Amino acid sequence: MKEEDAPKPAPHAGEPGTVAVDVGPAGEKKASYRADMKGAPPKLRVKDLSVTYLNRDGDGTEAVHDISFDVEDKPGVGEVVVFLGPSGCGKSTILKAVAGLLPPTKGEILVDGKVVDGVGRDRGMVFQAYTSFGWLTVRDNVEYGLKLQGVPAAERHERSEKYLKSVGLEDFAGRYPKDLSGGMKQRVAIARTLINRPRVILMDEPFGALDPQTRWGMQGLLLDVSRTEDPTILFVTHDVSEAVYLADTVYILSSRPARLLHRVDVPYFPVRNIELKSATEFRAVEKKLLDLLYTQAP
Ligand SMILES: Nc1ncnc2c1ncn2[C@@H]1O[C@H](COP(=O)(O)OP(=O)(O)O)[C@@H](O)[C@H]1O
Ligand SMILES: [Mg+2]
Repeated sequence: MKEEDAPKPAPHAGEPGTVAVDVGPAGEKKASYRADMKGAPPKLRVKDLSVTYLNRDGDGTEAVHDISFDVEDKPGVGEVVVFLGPSGCGKSTILKAVAGLLPPTKGEILVDGKVVDGVGRDRGMVFQAYTSFGWLTVRDNVEYGLKLQGVPAAERHERSEKYLKSVGLEDFAGRYPKDLSGGMKQRVAIARTLINRPRVILMDEPFGALDPQTRWGMQGLLLDVSRTEDPTILFVTHDVSEAVYLADTVYILSSRPARLLHRVDVPYFPVRNIELKSATEFRAVEKKLLDLLYTQAP
């Protein structure tokens, strides 16, 4: 695919959603079996996905090679799938393909059994590099997707208050992105995606620019969203500890073109707090991931 042939993402690409949200206290994970789900398609199916970028001379760079995985939609359990892999291996490409920003060169992506053929309101992406509208205030950036939906101003306001608060930016609602630090801008992007309550949330190294305390806060927020709103989350990080802390499932990717080398199911930790990170069981999963990352074939 030539880059100029790719569908141009709308500015609100992958954002949206309609229902009011409750970033409430964390609930327990619920049972993962529901009789009426028998035979239902997985929430997300990525099947034989390959993506090759073509430059102007027609030379190809294969970024993703033959990747297949499913994410079920267990009832009441927001599943978090983390991708770990070397820089430039194709992680962002996988997320962009799921977002519908890049058409697969081969294979397909299905959400609820329906083939993805472009961006959609059911999916929301937080990009690696912060993206916002410089001419809109922080609040208007956060409310942007709701405005496109025609959500009335009072409701938009109520919801943006809640989300601005959840990312610690309630005092910056009237400011413009240029007045914010990189980490604050990234939190605007996070709030702007979460407010739309997409059923599939795609997060590309979303916390990389944050200081450790803020990062810790955002990890907690993501777990709350996962428990209370039950979305499917695909999350890219370089941070092994973050991966273990957030993930239900970790996929280790090869260097470019990205192939799935290993799947690691992270045990469910009922209590997630700072002490967990030094617990033996937690450390054991970290070590396993590190071993898999460092022993992978070049
Ligand atoms: N638009 C593009 N055109 C050509 N090559 C690209 C483009 N975007 C990414 N690539 C290449 O594809 C590979 C994978 O990129 P990316 O998915 O961004 O990796 P990661 O997110 O794992 O760092 C890299 O080698 C990168 O240079
Ligand atoms: Mg990337």
